[in-house]
Amino acid sequence: MTVIRAVMLSRPRDYIISSVAATLPHLIHSSAIAACTQSQVPIIYQPSSLRSSSLSPIGSDRRGTLRTIASTAAPISKHFPRPDVVTGAAVYKHTSRRHSVAHSPFSLRPPPQYSTMAMKNTAEDVKIEFNAKGMPFRQLGSSGLRVPVFSLGGWLTLGGTVVGDPVKEIIKIAYENGINMFDTAEAYAKGKSEIEMGRVIKELGLRRTDLIITTKIFWGPRDGPNDKGLSRKHIIEGTRECLQRLQLDYVDVLFAHRYDVTVPMEEVVRAFHWIIEQGYAYYWATSEWSARDLEEAIQIADKYGLHKPVAEQCQHNMLHRERPEKEYAPLYKKYRIGTTVWSALASGLLTGKYNNGVPEGSRFDLNKDFFKNTLQSLTEEEGLAKIEKVKKLTALAEKKLGCSPAHLALAWVAKSPNTSTVILGASKPEQVIDNLKAIEVIPKLTPEVMEEIEGILGNKPDPYLTYGRPPLDAFGRDPIY
Ligand SMILES: NC(=O)c1ccc[n+]([C@@H]2O[C@H](COP(=O)([O-])OP(=O)(O)OC[C@H]3O[C@@H](n4cnc5c(N)ncnc54)[C@H](OP(=O)(O)O)[C@@H]3O)[C@@H](O)[C@H]2O)c1
Repeated sequence: MTVIRAVMLSRPRDYIISSVAATLPHLIHSSAIAACTQSQVPIIYQPSSLRSSSLSPIGSDRRGTLRTIASTAAPISKHFPRPDVVTGAAVYKHTSRRHSVAHSPFSLRPPPQYSTMAMKNTAEDVKIEFNAKGMPFRQLGSSGLRVPVFSLGGWLTLGGTVVGDPVKEIIKIAYENGINMFDTAEAYAKGKSEIEMGRVIKELGLRRTDLIITTKIFWGPRDGPNDKGLSRKHIIEGTRECLQRLQLDYVDVLFAHRYDVTVPMEEVVRAFHWIIEQGYAYYWATSEWSARDLEEAIQIADKYGLHKPVAEQCQHNMLHRERPEKEYAPLYKKYRIGTTVWSALASGLLTGKYNNGVPEGSRFDLNKDFFKNTLQSLTEEEGLAKIEKVKKLTALAEKKLGCSPAHLALAWVAKSPNTSTVILGASKPEQVIDNLKAIEVIPKLTPEVMEEIEGILGNKPDPYLTYGRPPLDAFGRDPIY
């Protein structure tokens, strides 16, 4: 107990070097080990046989120098139930505080706690082979990750209004039709969305490497003072709970579901960096952050050599354009930020299903409280104007493109070069199948059709002023040539 405490005090960083005197392993009290295990602080043991003048001296703390010898390896590791305890040639130079974590040789070790809950990935467990079936893939922003143009999310539906076998049917039909990316959040149905998604993925026998699973941190399912927001505490503890609910070792992308004005940006960026270094997530991203906040996060990450956000999960649809089309425009250009778009159908409004009132069993009907303001606005000038636009878009879609307004709305968002993936929402498997027909509509959106759509929408954000200089395209060229 004494020994471990002394070392932890001396290295109040993510990585702690545990040096234990040869004669002391019996002094390592089991409660001290448990404390270290819970604290998730990796403990690195360096046998003294590997110490040489080329290695940094280790084991010094306020109480003096602790010695290490190889023979302590066995008894110590026997005491540690943790998969991430590294014994052997652990060389950790405690150089600059800024860069020590980023350049740690231990950054790729497996996550500490969840290996026993890992979704099995052996050949026998895989029941459905993934077949992209013509689904186009795009790079997720500045990352190397390829995401399908259409993915599927669980907000209000999976684990909410849809539970049990229907969740399985929806995810199965999506997967069988080229959707291998699934989005959820700790907030969705107070964690039930993640639970349902994790269960179904396991039951269907999907190969983990074929899947892209994304979740979001901000609104934890409980109401304690640290159960929400982006403190380091909540980012780390919330993510661990997400993984438990999903029954996964890692998610592919972890989103900061909103910006937290109360937490210093450096704390947020360092916490997401830590999450990635631990292997809990491969990438991190933001959702509905202002361009200013996103840029600050990127600059802090750059300054300290930390992982930066690769994408933004933003609302983008024919009726909601200002932020994704104007505010973020410089970010696409400067940082290659990608977008995972939500509510491309404006919660169903753009399908035309609300043109003549609120159908029974629809989203607005089942979630009356949540959509109180939207329902109110549909009876007023602003909402009625939206319905009028949907009616005109419906006529254009049917007559000119031979598709439904839903296909048109989805294809329109997917066509944007800044869209990485459009996250579909579906309360029934048929909606997934129907919505995927939008892929065929994308090439039909010629400049003439796009112009006609602009004429109906009348809400194109003004471009940034160039003060008389001719605008250039994203590559800095005159768009005509
Ligand atoms: N980051 C964020 O803050 C945030 C916020 C919201 C959503 N999201 C993510 O984005 C995902 C998609 O968002 P969303 O669900 O709002 O998308 P959406 O496409 O705008 O709405 C989906 C809903 O529209 C209806 N619908 C879908 N296809 C239809 C069709 N072909 N015909 C008639 N109705 C149809 C269904 O509702 P009913 O059948 O029930 O009427 C469905 O649940 C979410 O699941 C979530 O993963 C993220």
